[in-house]
Amino acid sequence: MTPATAPAARIADLRRRLDDANHRYYVLDDPDIPDAEYDRLLRELQELEAAHPEFADPSSPTARVGSVPAGKFAEVRHAVPMLSLANAFADEEVAEFVARIGRETGDAEPAFSLEPKLDGLAISLRYEDGVFVRGATRGDGATGEDVTANLRTVRTVPLRLRGKPPAVLEVRGEVYMPKAAFERWNEVARARGEKPMANPRNGAAGSLRQLDPRITAQRPLAFYAYALGEVVLGQGAGATLPPTHSQTLAWLRELGFPVSAEVDVARGVDGLLAYYRRIGDRRNALPFDIDGVVYKLDRYDQQRAMGFVSRAPRWAIAHKFPAQEEATVVESIEVNVGRTGAVTPWVLMQPVQVGGVTVTRATLHNADQVARLDVRNGDTVIVRRAGDVIPEVVRVIEDRRPLDRKGQPLHAPYQLPMECPVCGSAIEREEGEVVARCSGGLFCPAQRVQALFHFASRRAMDIEGLGERFITALVEFDYVHTVADLYRLTVDDFVEMKRRADEQAGVVPETVKAGKIATKWAENLVAGIDASRNTTLDRVLYALGIRDVGESTAKTLARHFGSLDPIMAADEEALRQVPDIGPVVAARIAHFFAEPHNRDVIAALRAPYDGKAGVHWPEGAPRRASEGPLSGQTVVLTGGLAAMSRDEAGARLEALGAKVSGSVSKKTSFVVAGEAAGSKLAKAQELGVEVWDEARLLAYLAGHEGA
Ligand code: IVH
Repeated sequence: MTPATAPAARIADLRRRLDDANHRYYVLDDPDIPDAEYDRLLRELQELEAAHPEFADPSSPTARVGSVPAGKFAEVRHAVPMLSLANAFADEEVAEFVARIGRETGDAEPAFSLEPKLDGLAISLRYEDGVFVRGATRGDGATGEDVTANLRTVRTVPLRLRGKPPAVLEVRGEVYMPKAAFERWNEVARARGEKPMANPRNGAAGSLRQLDPRITAQRPLAFYAYALGEVVLGQGAGATLPPTHSQTLAWLRELGFPVSAEVDVARGVDGLLAYYRRIGDRRNALPFDIDGVVYKLDRYDQQRAMGFVSRAPRWAIAHKFPAQEEATVVESIEVNVGRTGAVTPWVLMQPVQVGGVTVTRATLHNADQVARLDVRNGDTVIVRRAGDVIPEVVRVIEDRRPLDRKGQPLHAPYQLPMECPVCGSAIEREEGEVVARCSGGLFCPAQRVQALFHFASRRAMDIEGLGERFITALVEFDYVHTVADLYRLTVDDFVEMKRRADEQAGVVPETVKAGKIATKWAENLVAGIDASRNTTLDRVLYALGIRDVGESTAKTLARHFGSLDPIMAADEEALRQVPDIGPVVAARIAHFFAEPHNRDVIAALRAPYDGKAGVHWPEGAPRRASEGPLSGQTVVLTGGLAAMSRDEAGARLEALGAKVSGSVSKKTSFVVAGEAAGSKLAKAQELGVEVWDEARLLAYLAGHEGA
């Protein structure tokens, strides 16, 4: 059967296969077809549906991309009201709840269904004959808003049920934003200078209340089912519903609904509390935010016997965890200078318990975020601490801002300092960049540890034995300010430094107790430093830690200029002439060498000291890229290589005279295609351009490099 002869059948077949694939991917977490194939089937279905509007169906998997906006949300009256839960905070409240049920049901140890309490948004999904027809928010419990079009875009909301669904089935559950997706979303938003979401719950609520479903479709939302609403059995699911809640959850899973893998059944207070502790211990590791667990009496006949009070069932209770958001007062706003010079504003606050620990500091991320939040001294703020994530300020409670006698805010809006609080260098923010940075570079102590660590690393100066522990101590006890100071260190310096570090840590090494001083390790370190004095230009260039100058750019520079002085003298324009160096990197390099601190450090590195040579390397003449066995040839690299980065491969081919280009044309001499090469490989094949695999590249390099 071809699509051309039977579009209706092909459409039905594609829908079934895509529904299946969705279910396996999102609900069972066990995908069985590759993403590329899924995309292909989806595209085919989209094309067929566009060509045959007579077969349109809102339950089609293509509906996930979102329909056009409707204007506003209609009201939906819930056939069965959506209730809330009573809360318990202390173990005793749970014990009372269990005892009350025992007394009133006459069952000494009734079973409970145990579930995580997801922190999202309660919604109700209505299915008629297995097809999703309407979705609504909880609203006031009696009436909610019709958000059907938005819910269709949520990948874990089934649009069509599996198995034998009843005639009418309303399923209640929570729409939420997984933590990882939330963090990723905010990272991107902050990097773009856009407004981040306050927390996953707000993210989910805001996304679901978008009037344009196409926007909702782009938000990473998920759904999980935990209860039933109206059910009309018809002839579908057999004559009756399962007799317990836990069996209902299992049945919902069979119908295609996602149900948390954390659900369980237990009896007795101890069983309930053990579950609470178990889930609590794993709270940070779970992929979604939870604010507690829910205990539900499992048997429906027992639930009916317990009944309801006001708007909550008497057969269920939510046992809450410590809150992850709390209010406290800002004592001061500070900035921190990171190892790469990035300036991060943060607040010092009155101590507050959040998520079970006391916090006094919270990040403000960057200057844009400070401006957006308008955090000022003395403000009352909401801080959020979720798991291992650094506590952050979520918003300001403006009503509680301290005012002067005239009713004006006591403090002006906060401004980031103009100078680095650590080294006094100017703080700069490049156009289009969200992050402000200290321009002090190697001169700034805050950046020194990282700069030294990079400098000493294997692919840079390769100083044997000089790890982060020693470097941190060297900076902390003020033995080194710049990388050049490393070459002035003596065995005595190291021994003294170690003695001070031990003293500070309150330890007395065995050798010292025995009245001896170990020096072998220090001699080895000094020898390692000495050995690194004799090096190569590209290593030095890489070791200096110029932003965006990685190993391959360092090699390109070294090859192009041959020696250091012309590089230091080159202006942006001259640097831009170097193959593969773009305007941004050219500007960074010129900026780095224009900085007097950096020039001083380089001079000190090269200077001999105490009878030892300075850092030195063989200097050569500039090499024209066009000289070599690949002169005149244009090469394109595509896909991933196993043995080296694409950059490195490009630099090595250039060293042999090739010109490396980004796009394939008839003029391309050959294309190197690595793993998962895509359109460039296809283009090469189409144009009949020669294609090399990685093995051939490696063999060629081995045969020609150093020749
Ligand atoms: S059952 C009749 N189960 O908590 C009982 N609710 O405070 C109805 N929630 O509005 C709710 N996880 O948004 C239930 N496993 C779970 C839940 C859960 C989260 C939310 C839901 C509800 C609120 C009640």
